[in-house]
Amino acid sequence: KCPHLSLIPVIDSTNQHLLDRVGQLPSGAVCLAEYQQAGRGRRGRQWLSPFGSNLYLSMYWRLDAGMAAAMGLSLVVGIAIADTLTALGAQDIKLKWPNDLYFQDKKLAGILTEMTGQAGDAAHLVIGMGLNIAMPTKEGSEIDQAWTNLADACDTLPSRNVLAATLVERLHTTLTEYEVCGLEGFITRWNEYDNFLNRPVKLLIGERVVEGIARGIDKQGGLLLETEQGITPYIGGEISLRGC
Ligand code: ATP
Ligand code: BTN
Repeated sequence: KCPHLSLIPVIDSTNQHLLDRVGQLPSGAVCLAEYQQAGRGRRGRQWLSPFGSNLYLSMYWRLDAGMAAAMGLSLVVGIAIADTLTALGAQDIKLKWPNDLYFQDKKLAGILTEMTGQAGDAAHLVIGMGLNIAMPTKEGSEIDQAWTNLADACDTLPSRNVLAATLVERLHTTLTEYEVCGLEGFITRWNEYDNFLNRPVKLLIGERVVEGIARGIDKQGGLLLETEQGITPYIGGEISLRGC
C-alpha cells in the first residue's frame, strides 16, 4: 500500500511540516526533504541537514494506546531502522539509548519523536529520522561529536530511493507489531543492537552524573544501569548517555 507522501526539496523541518498538518493526514503519512533549514534534534539542538545524499524523513503515526506508549515506540523505531540498514547490506549497525544509531562508536543517525494530543486520548506522533549517507565534509566539520556515514558501513551503498521505500515499509510493519504486542517482544532485539551493552557509561541527568555499566533496556524501555547499589532503570527524555 502506497503511503501519503510529501517530497519537498527545501523545508524548515520535515517534523514541523507533519506536526502542522496532523489533523489533515492519515496515519503513516511521510515527508521527505533534500535539505532542512532548521533540522532539529532533541531539546532544541540542531540537526545538520545539508544538500547531498542524506536522508531526512518523518512519519506521522496515530498511536491509539496514547502518550504513555510513545517512549517504547521511539525505541522500536530504532530497531526498524537498524533492521532496514542491515537488510540492505550495512554491517555492525548499533543503537544508543534512547534515540541514536551508531556505527563504530560514531553517530550515524538520530531519531526525534514529537507529539501532540491529550492524556487519555490517542497520541499523534511525528517520528523524524536523519541518516547520514554521504555527508559533505565541509558541513560535517560543524558537527560537534564523532559522526559517520552509511557509506562507511556498507560495501555497496543502496540507492536512496530503495532505502527510503524499504524504511517506510519496515516502519509500518514494526509500528503495527508494537501496537498489537507492546515492547516486550522487542527487548532482546534492542539489546542485540545495543552499542553500550555491558560497557561502562555515564548518564547525564540535568546537573547530575551517574556512572555504571549499561545492562540494556527493561520492559518500560528504561535504560538499566548497574552501580554498586544494584541495577536501576532510568527513563525519561531528559537523560543523555555517554560512553566512558
Ligand atoms: P543525547 O544523548 O541527549 O540524545 P546527542 O548529542 O546525540 O545527545 P541529540 O539532540 O540527540 O543530541 O542530537 C543532536 C546532536 O547531534 C547535535 O548537537 C550534534 O552534536 C549532533 N549532530 C547534528 N547533526 C548531525 C548529523 N547530521 N549527524 C550526526 N550528528 C549530528
Ligand atoms: C537526534 O539525534 O536528536 C535526532 C535528530 C533527528 C533529525 C531528523 S531529520 C528529519 C526530522 N526533521 C527534523 O527536524 N528532525 C528529524
